[in-house]
Amino acid sequence: MTEQSPALDNLLTESRTFPPSEAFSAQANATADFYAEADADREAFWAKQAERLHWETKWSQVLDWTNAPVAKWFVGGKLNVAYNCVDRHVDSGHGDQVAIHWVGEPGDSRDITYAQLKDDVSRAANALESLGLEAGDRVAIQMPMVPEAIVAMLACARIGVLHSVVFGGFSPTALRSRVDDQAARIVITTDGQYRRGKAAPMKVNVDEALEGAESVEKVIVVRRTGEEVPITEGRDIWWHELVDGQSAEHTPQAFDSEHPLFILYTSGTTGKPKGILHTSGGYLTQAAYTHHNVFDHKAGEDVYWCTADIGWITGHTYIVYGPLANRTTQVVYEGTPNTPHEGRHWEIVQQHKVSIYYTAPTLIRTFMKWGNEIPQKYDLSSLRVLGSVGEPINPEAWIWYRENIGANSAPIVDTWWQTETGGIMISPLPGVTATKPGSAQKALPGISAKVVDDQGVEVGKGGGGYLVLDKPWPGMLRGIWGDEQRFRETYWSRFADQGFYFAGDGAKYDADGDVWLLGRVDDVMNVSGHRISTTEVESALVSHPTVAEAAVVGATDPTTGQGIVAFVILRGNAVDGGDEAVQELRNHVAKEIGPIAKPRQILVVQELPKTRSGKIMRRLLRDVAENRQVGDVTTLADSSVMDLISSGLKSGK
Ligand code: WT7
Repeated sequence: MTEQSPALDNLLTESRTFPPSEAFSAQANATADFYAEADADREAFWAKQAERLHWETKWSQVLDWTNAPVAKWFVGGKLNVAYNCVDRHVDSGHGDQVAIHWVGEPGDSRDITYAQLKDDVSRAANALESLGLEAGDRVAIQMPMVPEAIVAMLACARIGVLHSVVFGGFSPTALRSRVDDQAARIVITTDGQYRRGKAAPMKVNVDEALEGAESVEKVIVVRRTGEEVPITEGRDIWWHELVDGQSAEHTPQAFDSEHPLFILYTSGTTGKPKGILHTSGGYLTQAAYTHHNVFDHKAGEDVYWCTADIGWITGHTYIVYGPLANRTTQVVYEGTPNTPHEGRHWEIVQQHKVSIYYTAPTLIRTFMKWGNEIPQKYDLSSLRVLGSVGEPINPEAWIWYRENIGANSAPIVDTWWQTETGGIMISPLPGVTATKPGSAQKALPGISAKVVDDQGVEVGKGGGGYLVLDKPWPGMLRGIWGDEQRFRETYWSRFADQGFYFAGDGAKYDADGDVWLLGRVDDVMNVSGHRISTTEVESALVSHPTVAEAAVVGATDPTTGQGIVAFVILRGNAVDGGDEAVQELRNHVAKEIGPIAKPRQILVVQELPKTRSGKIMRRLLRDVAENRQVGDVTTLADSSVMDLISSGLKSGK
């Protein structure tokens, strides 16, 4: 394409747009008329997308919204999700195509074809059935990015068992609360995991988590690092002993379109994580449709790489379900991006000729910090589409990504969505959209989103407010596990009169009517694209014997988007808030929740700013954390508190 003038000093006021090249548009999966087609008849549009899948029994109704906010999509349809992601491609003659180029952190690798994946998933499905698992049961999975993690997820899907993947970095306490909440019968893990060049234990953490866990009958352990692990007789089984000897024949049974597929826990505004429930037909339809069109994926030609971990929704929808449903050849990388060197990702792109690369702004900013010369050492010419997800991408990072990774030509898709939405909702379409650095731009064809004011009235161009989803979509969550009331309250009560789903994000329209996401408007922080609630971290802090009270805010951070800053009041007789005490508290939070929740900074204070009704005014604390002039204090019960906090901090108390 022809470049427009790059002569802009301040990228914060970046106003260039980047239309796709004619050559890209000519070959793109998505075309501009999709929008009109979907607007004309949404249900017909989605029915057409569902045809992408193999249905054992076709649906009789596209959408049943009579029991809103619990949707039914493709009512009466029956399908097997694993069959759609694996067997189908073997049956259509693509068994020899590589499904997964797996790259281990220490340098080992495995290429797994669709035929091999089918055998592996079938064996694992037989193994799970041999343990007495039945459709509707729950299996918790805490594993690093090894192929068996994907095989385990697909094996569950194949037999109608719900998986619940728990991020490998979560603490035993966090794992335990998730296992208990869903009453998981089985837990699958590994002996250990490679992290930054070292083997770290995993199974011993699981053991700690499961002490006295009543629902858990068996723990299946995949051997990865080879370190010795304690085995609990009668409960623990090695994966290879259980799975390898099973038959590679397994007949997939078709399940109802609304059969539950998985539970994935995410942080809400209270301390207790929410088990987000997704079902089969609609979820897989949206996963496959968005992966095909947003990434312009061409089966058998592209090599795709999504750098997420399967412990997050991005890994579920854009490593496992969407890509495999679309017969993708993809890279799955086990480790950290700077092991053994800071060019690891680009080395992998070069080696496997990756053509579609999907990552998070926090990592892009980290690459920027490491320096332009690192990607320059590698041949990245295979890359043709770049994606971003997890938080708003700042224009500087966007431009850097385009110039240094995308050779100034690959379209960048900034994809907005959530664990709850199941799949991408707002994003440019490569080949169609003239992209704008920093904006996710437009709801996809078939999806409807609006920016509204306090009253639920749509704002005009240039206006800001709350992001809502005003029409049901196939991949939408069907509930919070075991807590329907919380489901209704969290998402559907804010704009109950209008029946809107409230996403929790602030957003604005620009003069062209494009959407810009502005971050969360609730008490949820976004650290490196991971959602952590302020209350969760506060609960962890006050569970420490020295802490009387805690208030946590997300403060802008140049690399991680937001950093966690905690203000704590220590108990009367507790030790002084010296460095050691603060370090101890940081570690305590890591132990309670996981290292991702470790506060960047803990400030010991004498008082917290509260309103007359006792609500902590986080806004003011955020001002302190970001070294800003403290805002309006008139609603404080005691307006001198902020002076006390500020002077206490200056004097280093
Ligand atoms: C929250 C959802 C979706 C997978 C990763 C996170 C923020 C996500 C974007 C984006 C601006 C974004 C929102 C959202 N977010 N993508 N492209 N631009 N913000 O999933 O943990 O469920 O978090 O992440 O605040 O509500 P999640």
